[in-house]
Amino acid sequence: MDNTRLTSLVATVGAPFPFDAGSRSSLALSALDEIDRYDRDLRGLRVSTHFDQRSIRATLESVELHAGADGESLIAFVAEGLRSGQTHTSHPACFGLFVPATTAAGVAADILVAGFNPQLANWSHAPFAVEMERWLIEQFARRFGFDADSCDGTFTSGGAEANHTALVVALARAIPEFRELGLAGEKRPLCVYGTTETHHSIVKALRVCGLGAKTFRRIYTNAAGAMDADALRDRIRQDCSGGHRPLMIVATAGTTAVGAIDPLNELAAIAAECGAWMHVDAAWGGAAAMVPDLHRWFEGIERADSITFDPHKWLSVPMGAGMLLTRHRGLLERAFSTETAYMPRDGEFAQNPYARSLQWSRRFIGLKVFLSLGAAGWRGWESMIRSQIGLADRLRAELRARGWSVLNDTPLPVLCFVPEIASTDAEVTALVEAVNETGKAWLSTVQLPGGRVAIRACISSGHTESSDVDALVVLVERAWKEQVSGLAGLPS
Ligand SMILES: Cc1ncc(COP(=O)(O)O)c(C=O)c1O
Repeated sequence: MDNTRLTSLVATVGAPFPFDAGSRSSLALSALDEIDRYDRDLRGLRVSTHFDQRSIRATLESVELHAGADGESLIAFVAEGLRSGQTHTSHPACFGLFVPATTAAGVAADILVAGFNPQLANWSHAPFAVEMERWLIEQFARRFGFDADSCDGTFTSGGAEANHTALVVALARAIPEFRELGLAGEKRPLCVYGTTETHHSIVKALRVCGLGAKTFRRIYTNAAGAMDADALRDRIRQDCSGGHRPLMIVATAGTTAVGAIDPLNELAAIAAECGAWMHVDAAWGGAAAMVPDLHRWFEGIERADSITFDPHKWLSVPMGAGMLLTRHRGLLERAFSTETAYMPRDGEFAQNPYARSLQWSRRFIGLKVFLSLGAAGWRGWESMIRSQIGLADRLRAELRARGWSVLNDTPLPVLCFVPEIASTDAEVTALVEAVNETGKAWLSTVQLPGGRVAIRACISSGHTESSDVDALVVLVERAWKEQVSGLAGLPS
């Protein structure tokens, strides 16, 4: 943004706390105008660009903070900064990392939440909001096949917090004196099992819980990136005979890199045999597990002790909206409850969110899920999921028809591919950089379970249409041809 424009804007100083209805409406309307303008212009924007940290800093330094500025000019300033200073994950040609275009219902919910600002630490401060979240948790848990009479859960900021919550709950169940003694309540070293494809938030959670990254056993995967159940069995046997205790198996239903789904039924059986907690990280892929005729891909998910699911991924709810669901009522309290003199003691103490989760003061996360579900209905979400799977099928078929190699094997809408089976990691990386450089699409690179680098394209924006998929194929093909002709011109 032009600094002189900003300086002139901030010269018109507004009221520091515009709480009156007129100022609030005009501020909210200018924010909505900016959102509408962004939405209208989105398709024409470069999906990503080079960001210059120094110039962003210089623009921020130009804001006059002492006297305060009028809100509308600040909103215009911020909107300009966001338009020019971010990768546009909502863009129809952003084939990115599970960050969707948000919907009007989700945006409206976030506005309502900011305005009403209910405090979800305590039931008695926000009974409507707390009850709505409890009701939603039950609806989602039932979609995954949990029993309505025993299921439980909590909203989280996202998948990382949900995975962390699962680990704490698993510890609280495994170690009777965990609340008082922590890890000292268990004499044997604990083990947690996943694969190279498990989301790294589990490793962070292990560190935060004082278990250390070495607790994590990376079990072999098959070529598709799914956990090898026999290798898991062998490793557990080996660990047990060495005096270790299996704490938790972390299965993934839709891995971040390749969309693999672990063999959930087999892993649930192994967890039951060795007494470990069975957690399924379905942060992204779980959306498809809730579609009745796609549930077969996720058979066994209903046997999990807990599930991570992120409405802010495939369901297009604004960040951050995650949830941890469990089949065991009462364990969240065992893990998180604490007595205080300063929190209100209402009759529904056991349902106070601060006593059932990692967070304390908390925003009303569930409203954006409720309004999004209310507006789309399960059927609306199901048809969006089917349509995005259809777009990925189209992309797969087009690439294969043109001789490209699709290397991952998943029914979910994420593709990992290379132009030629013999292409090198460096060539693939250069190709992705060349495509992103055009600003017409955004792709990422990924390391496949076997180690080689591939192009990763995920259908993640609800704005993506079949023409965007076709355009992507043309774009990658052109970039590859240019690269090959450039390589041909180089001295060998
Ligand atoms: C499988 C999986 N689990 C967990 C996470 C972490 O979720 P969040 O970024 O919402 O914390 C991700 C993020 O992409 C993921 O793909």
